[in-house]
Amino acid sequence: MPDVQHGELFLVSPSRDLEDAFREMATEFASEGRDRLLRALDDFEGYVGRLSNSAAGVDLSPGRVPESHFWLVCSDVIAGTSRLRHTLTPDLEIEGGHIGYDIRPSYRRRGFGTALLRLTLVRAAELGLSRARLTCDADNFGSIRVIENNGGMLDGEALSLSSGKPIRQYWVPTAFSDRGRGKGV
Ligand SMILES: CC(C)(COP(=O)(O)OP(=O)(O)OC[C@H]1O[C@@H](n2cnc3c(N)ncnc32)[C@H](O)[C@@H]1OP(=O)(O)O)[C@@H](O)C(=O)NCCC(=O)NCCS
Repeated sequence: MPDVQHGELFLVSPSRDLEDAFREMATEFASEGRDRLLRALDDFEGYVGRLSNSAAGVDLSPGRVPESHFWLVCSDVIAGTSRLRHTLTPDLEIEGGHIGYDIRPSYRRRGFGTALLRLTLVRAAELGLSRARLTCDADNFGSIRVIENNGGMLDGEALSLSSGKPIRQYWVPTAFSDRGRGKGV
């Protein structure tokens, strides 16, 4: 496992300036079979442009809502990514929610996931959301801990419409008073 620098953590919007760091992260995700980000490098400028449009609600596909993408930067490395949907649809309320996130494999289990959600919830508060819907597979114990570390309250359980697997549904306050005092780098 590579040495991980615990520098200052912050979220940035996708930028062409970070192409090398993005490539390094995408290559690592591809090593666990997730090659979606690697494919973005076929046309990185177009990819960053599409993410920017998505955040601005421009050229949305039917049924899509505006969505901001963030990269978690730590010592010039992109440790993970998050997505913040500005509104919910009935389908998203069941599964998908407002926020999704991924930490690159070599940065997992060191508090980065908890910190990434914490920082993304701050952005949600800036959008005027007082609480965020979060859903995850019922057997995704890492994600469950990330959500509960950030004050998530279990609201329900359902079967995923896509996988048929059990999922958990949470509401997470965007201004959780304990956030930052407990878990997370
Ligand atoms: C889920 C994910 C974001 C967690 O990120 P992370 O950086 O490991 O999270 P943290 O280090 O903040 O860990 C939070 C807690 O979960 C625990 N945890 C993390 N991964 C775990 C796992 N695979 N099994 C059990 N517990 C786990 C940690 O020990 C920690 O526990 P604690 O709060 O009791 O100390 C990361 O594993 C990931 O990106 N997975 C693939 C994508 C994904 O599942 N995204 C979420 C979709 S809903």
